[in-house]
Amino acid sequence: MAEEKIVKEKEDIQVLLTEKRVFEPPADLAANSNVKAWMDKHGIKTLDELLEKTQDIEWFWKEMADELLDFYKPYDKVLDWDAPWAKWFVGGEYNIVHDALDKHMKTAVKDKVCFRFEGEPGEIKEWTYADMYREVNKLANAMRKLGVGKGDRVGLYMPMLVELPVAMLACAKIGAIHSVVFSGFSATALAERLNDCDTKLLITCDHFWRRGNKVALKPQADDAMKLSPTVEHCIVYKRTGDEVPWTEGRDLWWHEITADQPGECETEKLDANDLLYILYTSGTTGHPKGIQHAHAGYAVGTAATLKWVFDLKEDDVWWCAADIGWVTGHSYIVYGPMILGATSVLYEGAPAFPEADRWWDMIEKHKVSVLYTSPTAVRAHMRLGEDHPNKHDMKTLRLLGSVGEPINPEAWMWYHKFVGKDNCPIMDTWWQTETGHFMITPLPITSLKPGTATHPFPGIAAKVYNEEGEPITGAGGHLVIEKPWPGMLRGLYKNPDRYKDVYWSRFKDTYLAGDVTRMDEDGYFWIQGRADDVLNVAGHRIGNSEVESALVSHPKVAESAVIGKPHELKGESLCAFVVLMQGVEPSDELRAELREHVGVEIGKIARPDEIWFVHDVPKTRSGKIMRRVIRAKAVGEKVGDTSTLANPEAVEEIGKAH
Ligand code: WTA
Repeated sequence: MAEEKIVKEKEDIQVLLTEKRVFEPPADLAANSNVKAWMDKHGIKTLDELLEKTQDIEWFWKEMADELLDFYKPYDKVLDWDAPWAKWFVGGEYNIVHDALDKHMKTAVKDKVCFRFEGEPGEIKEWTYADMYREVNKLANAMRKLGVGKGDRVGLYMPMLVELPVAMLACAKIGAIHSVVFSGFSATALAERLNDCDTKLLITCDHFWRRGNKVALKPQADDAMKLSPTVEHCIVYKRTGDEVPWTEGRDLWWHEITADQPGECETEKLDANDLLYILYTSGTTGHPKGIQHAHAGYAVGTAATLKWVFDLKEDDVWWCAADIGWVTGHSYIVYGPMILGATSVLYEGAPAFPEADRWWDMIEKHKVSVLYTSPTAVRAHMRLGEDHPNKHDMKTLRLLGSVGEPINPEAWMWYHKFVGKDNCPIMDTWWQTETGHFMITPLPITSLKPGTATHPFPGIAAKVYNEEGEPITGAGGHLVIEKPWPGMLRGLYKNPDRYKDVYWSRFKDTYLAGDVTRMDEDGYFWIQGRADDVLNVAGHRIGNSEVESALVSHPKVAESAVIGKPHELKGESLCAFVVLMQGVEPSDELRAELREHVGVEIGKIARPDEIWFVHDVPKTRSGKIMRRVIRAKAVGEKVGDTSTLANPEAVEEIGKAH
């Protein structure tokens, strides 16, 4: 990095919050880690040396692919980069299902538990890799019989049941492209996604359990199919057995069409760069973007990152508590763990249901050794109090993880202390639907600072740029990736122009992540939130999440959302919505106290002009605070589409907050 021009000029985006604590990983964990074993093999002594050597990305990713993947026909070339289009493992013949399932049938992994499923009502069912193999093959055969094949798009509108990974792998097995749509989306949102990629087949279920209620999915799928003429058939998995509307000829029961199918099915030998899936994610326009991922590059990226960051070993019990409807579930419940032959916990229901300690009870019962979740979930549990985790024996835990948004240091400390018992490093992983796998993340050998995702993963060329496209440290700027990486998106479905425009037009041949970030003097990346979530108050740019984090560090505050309101003098004024800890009464005194608290934590400039007390803040179903919605409601503008909200009632409260 020495030859680069490091600019330490004017602060583009001011970073006011500083966190000084450093946590070293337990020595034995670091010494026995997968990454350390690899470093020893390659004569690499330090993390700095590892990060430097792996900037030879073709060498590094070839090493990883040779260790983790099994091609039908070897590739001729590691990378073909014609910016912004990448091809990885060019000329190779491959299918991810071979690595996730087929190859395990020849080893002891065959009889290992792949998924330990727990339904919300409490039933537990174990699926071995051999069980998965058989069920995937049966469904894949049934789909082939329906005329579904290579390149066809299949919509999967399913909740957290093992049948969802089964369906994903069945698609991949026959070369079809899956498009999973989160089960919490409405019929309209589903129809938009089905239509965008001309979906031929839809797979769904009758009902599923959520917070003690049965949620009807098939009727929603029916409403969507009325608007989606390309869907020829709908396969329905029976979860609860409740009656559902039925269209003869189009609708087919999963158990009926798979009943007579053989438990063997030939895996389609694909080109390494053939598409594996499309996953829709929101952008700045009203229309979601269809992010495309391809087989081999994605396979090595998910498996390598999981193996190194969460250090998965033979005996680990891995629990990624995300929903498979989001990229986290695709990469780290389904593909990454299965390629590694890991045992995963898969949970159908809501956290803290029916009791506040449901998760902690599950960790004890299933002997979970690695837990991966979101800051929102951590804060929700923090609000319920540490008595709940304290009731349980969770000594099997050895590593923890966080994803989805910056984790504020207070939540980090609570997670570390009460879940990890001061003994489990927290892997704060930064990545996106677009990147496919972790990009900036600690390893088990990294010294941690609460609130930062630390350094790029080996083989990832991440930098922070100023407006002129020069690498900077010490000031906020644009997070960019300078070189391609194996799990990178392969464009947007049928929209190459939008792909170029959104990600590649700001800096030449460089990927723009859209997150405001600062790299500190030790090379740690502090992600501060989306570029459009930065406020400008009296000429100072302040990240919304910084103020939120400061508020949440007050012992009486559980959660907060901060927005900017237009202000005559200052450009924008800071307006905070605050959820208090249980049992704390709102008052004007407390309002003043919180203002002062932010003043102390960040500086007078960041003190909110207004503080409103609410019971909840509007969030997406993946837990992201919807500042756009809050802002619109607070300034009296049209709120727009709220179909992606998990708690629409919270919007109403914004208008009536006191
Ligand atoms: C944010 C989720 C800070 C970020 C895997 C990114 C994070 C967006 C982190 C992608 C993290 C994700 N620290 N921010 N550890 N992880 N983000 O596509 O703004 O749902 O651009 O992928 O979430 O969200 P997505």
